[in-house]
Amino acid sequence: MRDLFEKIYRDKGPLGKWASHAEGYFVFPKLEGQISNRMKFQGKDVITWSINDYLGLANHPEIRKVDAEAGIEYGSAYPMGARMMSGHTTLHEQLQDELAEFVSKEASYLLNFGYQGMVSTIDALVTKNDIIVYDVDAHACIIDGVRLHMGKRFTYRHNDIESLEKNLERATKMAEHTGGGILVITEGVFGMRGEQGKIKEIVALKKDYNFRLLVDDAHGFGTLGKTGAGAGEEQGVQDDIDVYFATFAKAMAGTGAFIAADKEIIDYLKYNLRSQMFAKSLQMQLVVGALKRLDMLRTMPELKESLWKIANALQSGLKKRGFDIGTTQSCVTPVFLQGSVPEAMALVRDLRENHGVFCSIVVYPVVPKGVILLRMIPTATHTLEDVEETLVAFSAIRERLENGTYKRLSAAVVAELGE
Ligand SMILES: Cc1ncc(COP(=O)(O)O)c(C=O)c1O
Repeated sequence: MRDLFEKIYRDKGPLGKWASHAEGYFVFPKLEGQISNRMKFQGKDVITWSINDYLGLANHPEIRKVDAEAGIEYGSAYPMGARMMSGHTTLHEQLQDELAEFVSKEASYLLNFGYQGMVSTIDALVTKNDIIVYDVDAHACIIDGVRLHMGKRFTYRHNDIESLEKNLERATKMAEHTGGGILVITEGVFGMRGEQGKIKEIVALKKDYNFRLLVDDAHGFGTLGKTGAGAGEEQGVQDDIDVYFATFAKAMAGTGAFIAADKEIIDYLKYNLRSQMFAKSLQMQLVVGALKRLDMLRTMPELKESLWKIANALQSGLKKRGFDIGTTQSCVTPVFLQGSVPEAMALVRDLRENHGVFCSIVVYPVVPKGVILLRMIPTATHTLEDVEETLVAFSAIRERLENGTYKRLSAAVVAELGE
C-alpha cells in the first residue's frame, strides 16, 4: 500500500510543475492599489485587462460609500445562520424580487457563491432517472454539478447544435426507459473565448424535444442585452430559459450569485439547494451592496455603453493589426498566439515588464498544446489611450515571438523542465 501523499510528492500536475517559475508572477500574481484600469504589479504601473469589473463598479465612489456604510451598520457577521434557519432578512427578499424582475422571471434565490450555487442547482434539479446534456466547454462549476449526478449525462461539442440534437435524441430514448426528464446546460457567454452560447438555437429545439434549459450567464449579465439582463435578452429568448443563473462576481463587482425561474421552481430549489441550506446566508453587506449595484446597472446605461466603446475599440484594433481574436461575441477578448509554455512565460514577462500591460495568460492544458491564449477583459474604466498603448505592445510582442526572441530567452527553463 502507498502513502496517500506519494503521488503529490512525485507529480505536481500539468500546471503545478511550473510553480517554481510561475508562482507570484503568472499564477497567484498580486495586483495592488485601487481596482481600476491601472494598478501596480511588482511595484510597476500596469494597464489591467484581467479584472472582471465590466461596468467599473468595483471602485465607483457611490458603491464604495454604500459598501462602507453597510459595513458599519451590519458588520460582516450579519445575519448568522443559513437562510432556512436564522439567516433570512427582508433585504435578502428585496434583492431577490428586484433581481427576478430585472431578468424577467417570476422569482429568484440568492446564492452565497456562484460556484457552489451552480453545483447545488444542478444537483437539485435532477434525480438519477434524469439525463443531463451539456456543452463540453462548460465552466468547472457546471462540470462539478454534473459530477454529483447519479444518472446519465452526455456532452455535446462546443456550441454545436447538430451535436446537441444527436445527444438529445440519445437522451430522449434513454429517458423513455428511465422515466426521467432532460436538463440541457449551456453558458450565456463562454468566459475563455467569449462566444455566446447558442441559446436561441437551443431553445428552437424545444419544439422537437422535451427538455429544460439552465443557462450560466456569469459573463452576460450586465454586459449583454438592451437593459443588461444578459445573453437571453440579447438573443430575444429570455422567456425560454427555464433556469437563469448569474454571479455578482463580474458586472456586479461583488460576491454572491442568484438563480431565477418560475416561482414554483424557485420555491422548490430554496428547500433543496444543499449548498445554501447547509451554509451561512449571504452576508448583509454584500446584499446591501448588490442592491446598490443592481440599481446602478438598471439606471446608468452609460456604464454599459462605456464598456462596449472600449471592447469594440480593443477588438477592432486587434483585428486591424491581424491578431486572431477567435469568434468572440461578447466583451471577453481573447488573443490566440502560437508558442510553447516557456515562450508564453517570456512573452508575458516582456508584456508586463517592458510594456506595462497586464492580462491573463492561458496555456496547455486549458488550451491545446502550442496555443498561447492572452485573455483580456475590457471595462468601463478603461480609456482609448489604454487600448492604443495595449495594441502597440501586442504588435511588439508578436514580432518578438515570431523572430524567436522568446525561444532564446526561455531556453534555460526548457532545459530544466521541458516544454
Ligand atoms: C461561467 C461562470 N460560472 C460560475 C462562476 C462562479 O461564480 P462565483 O465566482 O460567484 O463563485 C464563474 C466565475 O466567477 C464563471 O465564470
